[in-house]
Order: sequence, then C-alpha cells, then structure tokens
Amino acid sequence: MSYKQKIYIENISDHIDKSVELNGWVYNKRGKGKLNFILLRDGTGTIQCVAFKPNLGEEKFDVVKSLNQESSIKIKGKVVASEKAPGGYEIDVEDIEVYQLSGDYPITPKEHGDSFLIENRHLWLRSSRQHAIMRIRASVMKAIRDFFDGLGFKLIDSPIFTPNACEGTSTLFETEYFDIGSAYLSQSGQLYAEASAMALGKVYTFGPAFRAEKSKTRKHLTEFWMVEPEMAFYDLQDDMELAEDMTVHIVKTVLRDCRKELEILERDISKLEKVTGKFPRISYSDAVDKLNEMDIPLIRKVDGQDVEIRPFPWGEDFGTPQEEALTADLDQPLFIYNYPTEIKAFYMKRDPNNPKEVLAMDMIGPESSGELIGGSQREDNIDYLEERIKEEDLDMTDFKWYMDLRKYGSVPHSGFGMGVERTVKWITGAKHIRECIPFPRMIHRIVP
Ligand code: 4AD
Ligand code: MG
Repeated sequence: MSYKQKIYIENISDHIDKSVELNGWVYNKRGKGKLNFILLRDGTGTIQCVAFKPNLGEEKFDVVKSLNQESSIKIKGKVVASEKAPGGYEIDVEDIEVYQLSGDYPITPKEHGDSFLIENRHLWLRSSRQHAIMRIRASVMKAIRDFFDGLGFKLIDSPIFTPNACEGTSTLFETEYFDIGSAYLSQSGQLYAEASAMALGKVYTFGPAFRAEKSKTRKHLTEFWMVEPEMAFYDLQDDMELAEDMTVHIVKTVLRDCRKELEILERDISKLEKVTGKFPRISYSDAVDKLNEMDIPLIRKVDGQDVEIRPFPWGEDFGTPQEEALTADLDQPLFIYNYPTEIKAFYMKRDPNNPKEVLAMDMIGPESSGELIGGSQREDNIDYLEERIKEEDLDMTDFKWYMDLRKYGSVPHSGFGMGVERTVKWITGAKHIRECIPFPRMIHRIVP
C-alpha cells in the first residue's frame, strides 16, 4: 500500500460507512463486560473505537482488554457518524493488532506537577494540550512563511556561528572555534539579513536565536525561534505596517485552521477575533507621560530590594509592569516607537529630528503577552554608525564587512524580529513559554 493511501483521524469524515485501517496509540480506555471504548490517537487527532465482544470474538476481545495507556495498535473497523461520540465519529472495531503493549506510562490522566511534566517533555508532547499547542505552532510558522513568500520576499538563512554580538554582549553564548578562537551562537540573523536585503531587496531569515538570558521568567528561553524580515527602501512606518499585516495574517490563519486546537485549549476566541488591523501606536515619550498619569513607577532592584521610582524617568526601558499598564484596555497589539537611543541597539537609525531617539519600534501584545516584536529603521549613515559601535565598546574590526553595506550604495532600510514562542504563547494562552517550543532550553534546563 502506498503511503498516500494511509488514513488519518483528521480526515475520517471522508470515509463514513467504510471500513478503514488506523494506526495509533491508546490515549484512554474504559468499559466493562462485552463493551470496551478505546480512545485512539494517531497524531492528527483522537477517535473513539468501540470494541464489542460478539463482533470481535473472544481472542481479539482479550487483546482489547489487555491494552493499557500508550499501547501502540492497528485497528480495522467501520467509520460511523455518531452524535454521541466525541468529535462526531467513531470506529466499530472489526479487528485489532498490537505493535507493543506499553510499559506503565508515567503521565496518567491525573494531575501532575509542572517540573515532573517538563522532565518528561518527550512524553508530555503526546498530551492533548501540548499536542494542540504544537499544531498551532506549526500553523504559525507556516502562516509566517506564506505571508512573506506571498509578498515576494526571499528566504535567506543566516549563520548560527557568528564572530560578533548583534544584540549586546551580555547574552552571548561563546564556543571554541578551531584555530580562530571564539565563535558565538547567533542572537539574531539581522546583520546578515541586512547584507542579503542589499542583494535581494526584500528578504527574511527564519531560524533559532540564542541568548544567555539570566532572567528566569515565563517569557524567556535561551534558544528560541525568530523570523526577521529585512527590506531595502522601507522606513519605520513601512516596517510597522508590515509587522501589523503579518500579525493579523498569523492570527487569522490560526483562527481558520486550528479551531479544534483552540477549543481543546479553551482559548477565548472572541479575543483573537478582535485582531483585525489598525493597531494603536504611541511614541515612547507619550507612553512615559501616560504611565505617569496612571502612576506606574519604575521598579529598580537596589541591594536585592524592589524600589519604586516616581515619576517614571524618561530614558529607562519598559518592563512587564509598564507593558501591562499600557496595553491593559487594548484588544490589539500596541506599537511603541521612537525609543531613547541609549537603551536600544547600535544599528538603529537615530531620528534626524532628535538624536536622543532612534527610529525603533516594539510591538507589545494584548492579554499580558509582552513584547512580541522588536524592530527599527537601520542606521544608514556610516559616520553615525561608527560612533554608535564605539559608544557600545564593540570591536570595529568585527563590523568591517557590515560597514561595507554603508559604503557601497547605502540605502534607507528597515526590519524587525518576531519571537515565535512569544507569539504562540499569546495565541494559545499557554501559561509558560516552555510549552510553546517542542524541547525548551532554559537557564536550568537542557534535558530532554
Ligand atoms: O527585540 P529583539 O532582541 O530584536 C532583535 O533581535 C532584532 N535583531 C530583530 C530585528 O530587528 N531583526 O528580539 C526580537 C523578538 C522579541 O520581540 C521577542 O519576541 C523575541 O524576539 N525574543 C525572545 N523570545 C524568547 N526568549 C528570549 N530570550 C527572547 N529574546 C527575544
Ligand atoms: Mg526587544
């Protein structure tokens, strides 16, 4: 039989009243006497399989009785539309074969602690919530690719081994690199995306990024996935418009393709349905004024103690309390633009009208989802760029090739980066970012 003829649960409605063969695992089993109900999962979904002793015969019914959670099986049976069955269809079992009777499966339908589940991530992925989140993640990634491919962007792949920092030296992962000395795991593919945009016009790089984040939060991973478009001849306004359109496209795609998954997660869909475009925008300076009107202070750690500073001082970066206050009554993400130069990366273009600010933007998601996107127009003036690199104490020799982009046909250009896991966390309503990547890497976790 060709693989093309294999039948999966997600398409079971194409086979009503026909006899089919399904392969999968026992998610759950109940029943007594002559009747057993197997909840079969095959990766695409789950379906109830009804095993009735008089139909199966003694021997095969004993096989059904011996099945435990996660036993791997092949089932033959007729597809029946049934209002009573979860999902609307069930299988009348005609035959069964066992690949393996499972050992005692550690994740049972009872409640387990978070640390137990994360230690068993390789198995936890099979659970219905995790399964739903991973399917939504796949849909988000595909939506991103389709969006950019549809606009004629070219996918380029930035290297993971890099000779220098892109997003500050404090979060670099260093590794030995033959006789050359040190290499660093990429914090962002942006600098390479910029070079590629000068060759191809509109590009995006999509891959893992690495940050030695010491912060133990629900929003930080040490390895995460980021999509980074970079466009020649785009200014900051174009950049925000593109980021907004991409975000709307992602949410719409998930709403269209992942209804079942959102239902399993008990996600309030009405919240996502409000993400339709025309995201509010506010400058950093106006945001500071607004925070002070709301009496939201800066919280600074002094000798391990939280100290509140009022009014919120211009020039300080926003953290979770500020982001949450600014987005509290919003249904859609918020763009904050024109940040103080000192708190942003060296490559951001200084505002020609105000050198204290850069043409940068962050997109803060609703529902306490935090920063989803960071981006900017890039500094295209070689002298200003050199000044900023020196101010940041970065080694000019590392950036020689990057400076060439400002020497040979420099143009206004912009780009941004969206964190996939943060986006998945927002859309799924997952409580922790570690549920939004198959195998999370965090400060205290590298296994499994
Ligand atoms: O704001 P960031 O640091 O921007 C950049 O890396 C730019 N080079 C992007 C660009 O302009 N091409 O990171 C972008 C996004 C954040 O908004 C966040 O969604 C995600 O990447 N991110 C993280 N996600 C999970 N864990 C972390 N430690 C993250 N750090 C950033
Ligand atoms: Mg950022």
